[in-house]
Amino acid sequence: MESASPKDDSSSAKSTETSFSFGMVDVFLFSVIIGLLSYWFFFRKKKEEIPEFAKIQTPVGAQSTNEGSFIEKMKKTGKNIVVFYGSQTGTAEEFANRLAKDSQRYGMRGMSADPEEYDLSDLSRLSEIEKALAVFCMATYGEGDPTDNAQDFYDWLQESDSDLSGIKYAVFGLGNKTYEHFNAMGKYVDQRLEELGAQRIFELGLGDDDGNLEEDFITWREQFWPAVCEHFGVEATGDECSIRQYELVVHTDISASKVYTGEMGRLKSYENQKPPFDAKNPFLAPVSVNRKLNQGGERHLMHLELDITGSKIRYESGDHIAVYPANDTSLVNQLGEILGADLDTVISLNNLDEESNKKHPFPCPTSYRTALTHYLDITNPPRTNVLYELAQYATDPSEQERMRQMASSSAEGKALYVSWVVEPRRNILAILQDMPSLRPPIDHVCELLPRLQARYYSIASTSKVHPNSVHICAVVVEYTTKTGRVNKGVATNWLKNKEPNENGHKSPVPMYVRKSQFRLPFKSSTPVLMVGPGTGIAPFMGFIQERGWLKQQGKEVGDTVLYYGCRHKEEDYLYKDELAQFLRDGALSQLNVAFSRDQPQKIYVQHLLKQNKESVWKLIHEGNGHIYVCGDARNMARDVQNTFYEIVAELGKMSQQQAVDYVKKLMTKGRYSLDVWS
Ligand SMILES: Cc1cc2nc3c(=O)[nH]c(=O)nc-3n(C[C@H](O)[C@H](O)[C@H](O)COP(=O)(O)OP(=O)(O)OC[C@H]3O[C@@H](n4cnc5c(N)ncnc54)[C@H](O)[C@@H]3O)c2cc1C
Ligand SMILES: NC(=O)c1ccc[n+]([C@@H]2O[C@H](COP(=O)([O-])OP(=O)(O)OC[C@H]3O[C@@H](n4cnc5c(N)ncnc54)[C@H](OP(=O)(O)O)[C@@H]3O)[C@@H](O)[C@H]2O)c1
Ligand SMILES: Cc1cc2nc3c(=O)[nH]c(=O)nc-3n(C[C@H](O)[C@H](O)[C@H](O)COP(=O)(O)O)c2cc1C
Repeated sequence: MESASPKDDSSSAKSTETSFSFGMVDVFLFSVIIGLLSYWFFFRKKKEEIPEFAKIQTPVGAQSTNEGSFIEKMKKTGKNIVVFYGSQTGTAEEFANRLAKDSQRYGMRGMSADPEEYDLSDLSRLSEIEKALAVFCMATYGEGDPTDNAQDFYDWLQESDSDLSGIKYAVFGLGNKTYEHFNAMGKYVDQRLEELGAQRIFELGLGDDDGNLEEDFITWREQFWPAVCEHFGVEATGDECSIRQYELVVHTDISASKVYTGEMGRLKSYENQKPPFDAKNPFLAPVSVNRKLNQGGERHLMHLELDITGSKIRYESGDHIAVYPANDTSLVNQLGEILGADLDTVISLNNLDEESNKKHPFPCPTSYRTALTHYLDITNPPRTNVLYELAQYATDPSEQERMRQMASSSAEGKALYVSWVVEPRRNILAILQDMPSLRPPIDHVCELLPRLQARYYSIASTSKVHPNSVHICAVVVEYTTKTGRVNKGVATNWLKNKEPNENGHKSPVPMYVRKSQFRLPFKSSTPVLMVGPGTGIAPFMGFIQERGWLKQQGKEVGDTVLYYGCRHKEEDYLYKDELAQFLRDGALSQLNVAFSRDQPQKIYVQHLLKQNKESVWKLIHEGNGHIYVCGDARNMARDVQNTFYEIVAELGKMSQQQAVDYVKKLMTKGRYSLDVWS
């Protein structure tokens, strides 16, 4: 079926005669080798030392210490439940914190833990602690991959032959059904721990972020705790109660030099920028270009260029840029007003558990204004634990009752939470507006809201052509909710208003680059077929630029084929002129565009793929081409994949199952890659 390319195995091809007689040269070489080996064994540093400039002063809010042994920590702090989280955007971490907090109700003491901060091979020692339990809240990413902070744990699980008998565990997975490898990480951790001899005390939970992840979690948790009680012979000591985790300290006389103003890591890092730049130390990239891409329609699609000159930031085509946005000033002001707070008060929220690694919920000291602008998520509908904690402040009993009900695990409560919070997408401000008697203290609100997360964008340029800038292609999120409110996406609306060099001032965007697996083929002569409707075109702008550049360097470049789709030819045909120029230059060999709404019936990229099935099959099968799909994960990616199954089945004369296996094999060989989001 697939024609394997002949391997160039020069090492085995060359056979040389070996002489075994020792001369002076041999003795010398032998001594050098022994010397080097001794040096390697005795003096080699275990890990590369962090260069001086890389030492980031972690914000007091997100402090992490490499504690090494979580067992020692548990013993020292009298904990018997450890809840590890594999989390990229904070949800699994939130769930882990909630489970750790719950444990107090059952006379147990829990701590949440970042697997990156501990040596997980210590798991086998957990039985040294009485009634000990390890819980894992694990999110899945990419093509069934672990989150960054769970990578080492995942590697250890794969390699380990530890005996975990006597270790009790439970797993809650966080995933999204629109992705092919639904909850792969939760499933793997659950199964692997069992293989290593650990005892599952409650069944695996599978949360679906495409449905209602919060509900999945509370439903699982509701049965999980009784199972824990039964297993360990303990009883709930009372009802759920509100326990503050942080203590408020108001700073009345503090030097401005000690106050965080939005930094993610080192204090004053935005005034005194030092590479390397990463999640804890983002680079402030000025916006050099910000232009609207669509000619009409109600939406705003935009192309931005961020200047990375002097940052030493390197990127590859296919990488992602992470952007730290700021919340809308008017929303922040409205929150301050409704809560009756002076937003310029400088405060610290200090963890009451002095042993905790997390000293503050966000970098402190800081003002309420900074916290609500840069550190806290004020636009997503709050989770049920936030409603539960805030309910105590509603002075109207019916409002308090409604808040408590929505936070409960009863069927009516869950339904009310969905219909009153999730579906109308009520954020914290909308909830306060619609519950007039609910006026919690602002510090408790700040303690409860989750952290504002960075947003990712597929880089729409190549560093071969644009070494000093990173391009973004994005659609501005704006929609009207069922309550008639206009909700605006945080990052896209913030980016939309970033004017290049406004009044001579730079308009900086805190950013860093995140490496991806979405890569052009190693050999430029390999043909590529890219499918990217809408903003899914983003990484392909970089790919095409790079293929054009390679051509200019005199390299042999294979066919570069693009399938792009938009609503109307005259409205949202993104990069129309640039694509036409790429065609003229030969950077692009073939351009297929599906206009979905210019005729009565929908025409999508997959319809054009089907139309061109012969050439598509030839590129994949004979040309050993690589396929790339970018954009909507919910429908498009799946529909396009199904179309590839159909083409492969028909032209490869295969059964449906054989076609599926064929495409899956392309995936494992890195010849069918996805960069999708929902
Ligand atoms: C790896 C990756 C690459 C990405 N690349 C790109 C890219 O190249 N270009 C791009 O534009 N985006 C891209 N995204 C998406 C991007 O990260 C942001 O999610 C997006 O820009 C929205 O961010 P925001 O802060 O403006 O909106 P948010 O404030 O995060 O609001 C978005 C949320 O609002 C809700 N919402 C949106 N529309 C509606 C509606 N009509 N009704 C009800 N609720 C709604 C949804 O829950 C949605 O998650 C990518 C995402 C990932 C994970
Ligand atoms: N989380 C977020 O806030 C966020 C933000 C941005 C984008 N996104 C996701 O990214 C996707 C792309 O956004 P966009 O605004 O760039 O795209 P878009 O302009 O809405 O869509 C691009 C083209 O794809 C078509 N299309 C719709 N369904 C398809 C399918 N199943 N198969 C193939 N083509 C299909 C559209 O046709 P019709 O519309 O005419 O059907 C349109 O012609 C969105 O669908 C959304 O899921 C999410
Ligand atoms: C880019 C991206 C890739 C994802 N890949 C998968 C996946 O392969 N399988 C899956 O089940 N869920 C996937 N998800 C869904 C996440 O696992 C889910 O949203 C989870 O709640 C995130 O948890 P976190 O906030 O703790 O990182 C993906 C989400 C994103 C944004």
